[in-house]
Amino acid sequence: MDAPLRSSRPTAGQHDLVGQLARGEAMLGAGVKRLPASLYTDADRFRREQSTVFANEPLLLGPSALLPRANMAVTHDDYGLPLIVSRDGDGQVHVLANVCRHRGTRLLEADEPVPAARIVCPYHAWAYRADGRLAAVPRPDCFPGLVKETMPLARFAAMESGGLIWFSRNPDCDFSGVSVLEADMEAFGLSGLHLYQRRTHEVAANWKLVIDAFLESYHVQRLHAATIATFFADGITVADRIGRHQRAVVGRTDYLARLDPDDWAQIRRAATFTYHLFPNSVIIVSPDYINVLLCYPQDVGHTRVEDLMLIPEPPQTNEAEAHWRKSWDLLDGGTFGAEDFRAAALCHQGLASGLIQEVTLGTLESGIADFHRLLDEALD
Ligand code: FES
Repeated sequence: MDAPLRSSRPTAGQHDLVGQLARGEAMLGAGVKRLPASLYTDADRFRREQSTVFANEPLLLGPSALLPRANMAVTHDDYGLPLIVSRDGDGQVHVLANVCRHRGTRLLEADEPVPAARIVCPYHAWAYRADGRLAAVPRPDCFPGLVKETMPLARFAAMESGGLIWFSRNPDCDFSGVSVLEADMEAFGLSGLHLYQRRTHEVAANWKLVIDAFLESYHVQRLHAATIATFFADGITVADRIGRHQRAVVGRTDYLARLDPDDWAQIRRAATFTYHLFPNSVIIVSPDYINVLLCYPQDVGHTRVEDLMLIPEPPQTNEAEAHWRKSWDLLDGGTFGAEDFRAAALCHQGLASGLIQEVTLGTLESGIADFHRLLDEALD
């Protein structure tokens, strides 16, 4: 089975990157770089990242496929705030506080999407619409002077673009830095995909160690020798940036050189795109499915990582289910869980010992240095 994703054509940037890959112009950083180990282990640094970057930047909440229909809602707690992500009757996305305006009760409890034409508080049954407006109050005579229009759920700045849902704690957040991704995401048909699986991993590592694993290809032939290494050549990666987001592509160079560079479907089968969405998310585009990884920092040495796999449509046959299950197991359980996340946790153990003061980055790891430079700029 080899169902292609619904996709139209590459963007000019994607086209250029694949051309570089086909010509064998593998990316090499300028030289060896070093980063202080304390970037990953210092609790004050972690708190500063939270109070500056995570408190102000647009943060990814998940793919649009989380809410495939109008009047649906799902809880989201992993950024340390009780949120409801909802889609109203017109299809518009909202990010709301999961906190009743009456006396503060949590409104939705389950973490699976639920119908939300009415969100009813379990305590005294105040009812809200999917856009957060207060719709009904039982025994309104007990609340003389209460004006429902002035009592909506607290609302956060939010944007849906290119099949992704973003929010920010900062009400004045500028989302232009994420809307620049829309064309690339639409080239993969992201907004029309079906959510096949999602799973949360608890990783005993600083969040940046998880991100780092997706910013270099040096480890692929070593760490992933038993899983995905055979799909890739050693160290053949090209990358560039869209704003602060990193876009990289790996592939079989010899094969790509023989392909029509305008045949997107063929290219998609021979090249794998990876995006680091600043600051804390990763998108990996396999030939016929996409994984979205969201890293939620919980503490300086603890990251919750959510993996969501998107496929073109719900499996219609046992054969299709077996096909997607095999891909899910290969990446989520094998490649990510048992390899990338394990390596991040082992790395954190070593750095937390305090026995080395710096990490050393080779020329195939320059994407990591780039990410940390951009993060430092955001912290300032
Ligand atoms: Fe929600 Fe009373 S706390 S209705």
